[in-house]
Amino acid sequence: KDGKNGGAAPKQAKKVDYVTVNDYGSSIFGRLQSLFKKAIEDAFPGLDVPLLLAETPNPQFGDYQCNSAMPIAAILKATGINKKPGDVGKEIHAKLPENIDFVEKIAVMPAGFINVFLNADYLRKQISSLALNGISLPKVAKKRVLVDFSSPNIAKEMHVGHLRSTIIGDSICRLFEAVGYDVLRVNHIGDWGTQFGMLIAHLYDRFPDFLKKLPDISDLQAFYKESKKRFDEDEQFKKRAYECVVKLQSRDGEIVQAWNTICDVSKKYNQIVYDHLDIKIKDVGESFYQDKMVELVKWIKENKPDMLRKEEGRQIMFPTGCDVPLTVVKSDGGFTYDTSDLAALKYRMLEEKCDWNIYVVDAGQNLHLETVYAAGRDFGWYDENTQRVEHVGFGLVLGDDKKKFKTRSGETVRLLDLLSEGVKRATEKLKEKGRDAVMTEEELAAARDAVAFGCVKYADLSHTRTQDYIFSFDRMLDDRGNTAVYLLYAYARIRSIVRTSGVTDSQLADYLAKTPILPLNHPAELKLAKQLLKLSDCVLLVLDSLMLHQMCDYVYNLATLFHDFYNECYVIERKEGEPVVVHFHRLALCEVTANVISTCFKILGIREVPKM
Ligand code: ARG
Repeated sequence: KDGKNGGAAPKQAKKVDYVTVNDYGSSIFGRLQSLFKKAIEDAFPGLDVPLLLAETPNPQFGDYQCNSAMPIAAILKATGINKKPGDVGKEIHAKLPENIDFVEKIAVMPAGFINVFLNADYLRKQISSLALNGISLPKVAKKRVLVDFSSPNIAKEMHVGHLRSTIIGDSICRLFEAVGYDVLRVNHIGDWGTQFGMLIAHLYDRFPDFLKKLPDISDLQAFYKESKKRFDEDEQFKKRAYECVVKLQSRDGEIVQAWNTICDVSKKYNQIVYDHLDIKIKDVGESFYQDKMVELVKWIKENKPDMLRKEEGRQIMFPTGCDVPLTVVKSDGGFTYDTSDLAALKYRMLEEKCDWNIYVVDAGQNLHLETVYAAGRDFGWYDENTQRVEHVGFGLVLGDDKKKFKTRSGETVRLLDLLSEGVKRATEKLKEKGRDAVMTEEELAAARDAVAFGCVKYADLSHTRTQDYIFSFDRMLDDRGNTAVYLLYAYARIRSIVRTSGVTDSQLADYLAKTPILPLNHPAELKLAKQLLKLSDCVLLVLDSLMLHQMCDYVYNLATLFHDFYNECYVIERKEGEPVVVHFHRLALCEVTANVISTCFKILGIREVPKM
């Protein structure tokens, strides 16, 4: 934001396990990980060795494979102990519990690889239980998390640059909420600063009766530009703008009202975007920290006076290991973006008492944020061993030409225009498929919005967060491939299989209660069942990485495996359109698949629709 380039700030040094799992639930990988960790510790106490455990690509070698024996043998060799990897593997194996409910057999290869084969009856049991009792996620120790996301600037309309922060931040909150964390959804809006002087002065000229009624500023961006133009060209106006800033800072009643008016207009616009995208968020913007910044400077002077340095009238500081300074006080006595972020960090860690403080902000602000975090560490505001403060950065949204995403006339794209375009295109898409003929108006409207907003969100989330991505409606509305449309169709199709089977919920429940071990025997059924049980693994993985594309990949793979299963196995056998044979165990698979997809949709913020 401040154009600090070239410098580097140190990252948080220690990486500890911040997510404490109390119960892995159906997560096989998670349970296997902790079993292997313990076995290695028992077999080779005190040896600091990473656990290498992965899914096996070739079913001949089982489902999971532990590859830790080789590095352990190498470490032992360096200390003068000669042991073959195969023997190391055997010693680890010997320390694993004898009977593990989900394991069929474990085989140690001569090269030390330990292959784990899953027990099919375990899968059969788990699916029956998930169908009967619903989806359960792993249980983790409750944490207090603050997610700073969206955070647009007032009067500069929310644009596509804030889209990613809004979508990614919301989804991260949803994930935390799904595992029962205490989540603070914070909008750190840019609602304070000298730019308000010119906006207020311009408001007085353009809407003299703004005190009586909310001005109808339909295009805030244009309003901002007009006032900026006057500010740059008209000395008289500039003087008035400065006077407004001074009055705002001294809390002059009417000027504060003018400031409020501008904020309200801007927030009203943003709210439309948030409503479309089902986003809940609380404003704790820069203005919230006005008094706290004064206190902050006092606090530094009292507690860490050596950290502050005077330079050309400014008061700056170089946190440990940083080569770009933070400007705490400007030469005119005013505060900066740095000051507000310092005050915010202090407040979040010491007052809000967060365990985890996350900033979902574009990658360009990484240096600024890491420098602020380094200052927080110097000031002792948080303990890295128990608290996690991190920047969740993301790449740019690019246009088809791989350049910065712009309108045809070269303006930044307004988010609302973009979403309206999405709605238009989703409508066309549904018509093209003839859906308007078979769905009610309400169903159609629900499907249209789910497609329009879901496709924009999913396109964002399914790309690796840290990379740039190309915004293309054509691609995101494609019903083949890894898109929201494909998944929404898959979901609706599965629901309709269950709906048209003629089997009621209670009939299915009766069957499941009688059949704790479902007769899943076809390879496609077993493959699908395995993928379903991986939901918990996926949740734990994303909880740590905060990389939502991993969940998109998971649910996309699930939908693909479902299609394979559906192509190869009859769920319902029909005669002249009427169901004659219903395979209940397969219906249970459908039900669990739909519920798992629905769980993922909730985390990804995609609206599910029963009909498409
Ligand atoms: N308003 C800022 C911008 O649009 C983003 C604020 C991000 N959050 C923070 N605590 N700095 O660039």
